[in-house]
Amino acid sequence: MGSRLRSLRLLGVAALALALSACQFIDPAVDDAPLNSLDPQGPFARTIDGLFWPVFWIATGVFVLVQGAIIVAMVVFRDRPGRKEPRQIHGNAKLEVLWTVIPALILAAIAVPTVQTVFDLTECDPDAMRVEVIGHQWWFEYRYSGLEGIPEGETVETANVMVIPADEEVCAVMTSDDVIHNFWIPKLNGKRYLVPGQETVLRLQADEPGTYYGHCAEFCGLSHSLMRAEVAAVPRPEFEAWLSHQLEPAPIPEEGTPEWDGLQLFVNGLCVQCHSVDFEENDQGIGDNLIPREAFNGPDLTHFGDQYRTTFAGAVLPEEDETFEEAMKRWLADPPTVKPGSFMPDLALTESEIDSLIAWLRSNE
Ligand code: CUA
Repeated sequence: MGSRLRSLRLLGVAALALALSACQFIDPAVDDAPLNSLDPQGPFARTIDGLFWPVFWIATGVFVLVQGAIIVAMVVFRDRPGRKEPRQIHGNAKLEVLWTVIPALILAAIAVPTVQTVFDLTECDPDAMRVEVIGHQWWFEYRYSGLEGIPEGETVETANVMVIPADEEVCAVMTSDDVIHNFWIPKLNGKRYLVPGQETVLRLQADEPGTYYGHCAEFCGLSHSLMRAEVAAVPRPEFEAWLSHQLEPAPIPEEGTPEWDGLQLFVNGLCVQCHSVDFEENDQGIGDNLIPREAFNGPDLTHFGDQYRTTFAGAVLPEEDETFEEAMKRWLADPPTVKPGSFMPDLALTESEIDSLIAWLRSNE
């Protein structure tokens, strides 16, 4: 009996040590994980977190009790030489009722806050600012319209980085241009599908200004793993300044500059087949939006050099060890190598053509 107890105790200590070391392993990693759903930074993510932890601890309690009982039964009642065959029984009605009723009660108790949370997160506050989110293979587009400061019929379009005011609810009204995607900014809320031909909504709110990282959470083709998203939450006045600046058209650069060469390449090459730019009124024959926006399926590049647009190509570039310009060179030289399946083809641009394009694009602040 003594040795049996000792081995049980040893087993318990080993399990505890394992659990503690797991916690230690998780803890430092958590601080540096951009897609950490256990680090809520806004009320909606916190609502989910508030449900997750009680359910986690209840599940842990059930796990420990059930596994503990199994281990005790295995050790204490194991077969040993000289033991008689155990008494053969059919069952125990009292026990069976008990272990049916207890889990049913636990599940019923968990169902109440779960359903409550689902309802809390399903619909946006009707007064919340609405931003359209459109999924594309493989990038997220954001459209702002009908907001204060945006003239009737005008839309601000941007890609990859969604700019929102901090400490305010923003209602993402979402759909997809091609296949099913899933918009997920773990520190601000859970996941929600983007479905072609349908509209789904996601409530977003960040307590503090900052950058919140996200990822497409539904397999959507070759470069699904390279379909990221960012939310830049900024103070309200900065947001308004950003929005009104976004309404301004791109300036026409001076002739003879690298920016001018870049613009010529853009307008006369294949870029305009997919990308739109709102140009200022001009007499250069470039025109203001030659093709209706609906005809494009690439990101709008009017403000590609904007201070918040710190990333491109589905928010995967630049990578940590390269500058924006280095990443752009790599991208423009051969997009499908960087992003498998990319609809932006290798246009066989020369190095100097790439340099001019970068100069012009970056000048569109
Ligand atoms: Cu879009 Cu995965």
